[in-house]
Amino acid sequence: MDHDAIILGGGAAGLFCAAVGGQRGRRVLVLEKAEAVGKKILISGGGRCNFTNLGAGPANYLSANPHFAKSALARYTARDFLDLVERYGIAWHEKTLGQLFCDGSAKQIVAMLLAECEKGAVEIRTGQEIGSVAHDGEGFAVEANGETHRAPALVIATGGPSIPKMGATGIAYDLARQFGLKVVEPRPALVPLTLGGEDVLFRELSGVSAPVEAHVGKGKNTGRFREAALLTHKGLSGPAILQASSYWRHGEALRIDFLPDTPRGWLVNRKSATPQATLAQVLRTLLPERLADTLAGRLGLTGPLQSLSDKALTAAEERLHGWQFHPNGTEGFAKAEVTAGGISTAEFSSQTMEAKKLPGLFAIGEAVDVTGWLGGYNFQWAWASGHACGEAL
Ligand code: FDA
Repeated sequence: MDHDAIILGGGAAGLFCAAVGGQRGRRVLVLEKAEAVGKKILISGGGRCNFTNLGAGPANYLSANPHFAKSALARYTARDFLDLVERYGIAWHEKTLGQLFCDGSAKQIVAMLLAECEKGAVEIRTGQEIGSVAHDGEGFAVEANGETHRAPALVIATGGPSIPKMGATGIAYDLARQFGLKVVEPRPALVPLTLGGEDVLFRELSGVSAPVEAHVGKGKNTGRFREAALLTHKGLSGPAILQASSYWRHGEALRIDFLPDTPRGWLVNRKSATPQATLAQVLRTLLPERLADTLAGRLGLTGPLQSLSDKALTAAEERLHGWQFHPNGTEGFAKAEVTAGGISTAEFSSQTMEAKKLPGLFAIGEAVDVTGWLGGYNFQWAWASGHACGEAL
């Protein structure tokens, strides 16, 4: 055996896992398809990498088993990663909602990961075309660029298929199936939603944004997000919608509260305070003008508020608190920031990320069915799962 572990994929999870394993004295080889490692890190957070979230906890992740992420997240926290960032003297700031970004550039995070790998004498090979991956009594044999590498441990860290033009592939799922592991159907997440039918009218408002509360899903699988929504020429985007998209399933309605900060009875109160004003005019005090006019037009209430019954105003207000959109799809993997679904967590130990059926096989990061919210949670999962695995190599 020329290595103790082979890691497929030199992204966030793979590099961090390699560093942890290497620093524990394991001989680690990373095989990366692209010409450079950490490409998604470099473009993340608009080039500043939202590298973690101070509030990251299991409730911020979607998975068929919501308990799976608990152990790894508890054993390697946002604070732990922040300590590492600070040890490297990387300046950072909190943007909003616990989201931590580099002051300078995402390149600093990649440089830090590479320095950590170097400390662990990790061997990194880029531009690798993975051929066959086989397992026998002794361990794993990976054929890449015509060479065969052997190790008793193999880590799948090849991420998900979101943004294929950056080289993202579904190889993780092919390998999982090859080794008899179940895959929860992958779907685009943190992705803009597209509108058709009656909702198409809203596409004319492309560029308009408003603070809303987006609500989607049923029962356990419910997401409610109070952030900005952005209308686009294809449909809906902005943080509130991207967050909700991870919970949205085809055929479901998306409910938008356009008045998230107004107490019930607001419109009837407006009628007393400004009887001459129209619905569009009072909505304009809270929402961008074009959106206010479109909503008022769709509600079909014209004339001064004093000419409208309290019943009609109350009904209108209810609709504004839960405006139903019926997205006809998403903008797909090409625009998805992450992939939801992935290799089923039921296959792994949540302590070590090792496959129960096949000791020595591990999977970490986005390849696994654990998907974080927008805001640094996905990197925190990459670090935490990479750390749990690196400790077990
Ligand atoms: P990742 O995708 O990082 O790495 C997988 C690696 O495997 C890649 O280097 C890939 O080239 C390689 N690979 C693929 N197929 C292979 C093959 N066949 N052979 C060998 N190697 C192969 N998250 C967050 O928390 N904060 C943020 O600011 C952002 N911002 C952001 C912006 C954009 C535009 C995107 C697309 C995504 C984000 N994310 C994010 C999400 C975050 O980038 C993502 O969740 C992590 O990078 C996942 O880490 P992994 O290591 O699992 O996969």
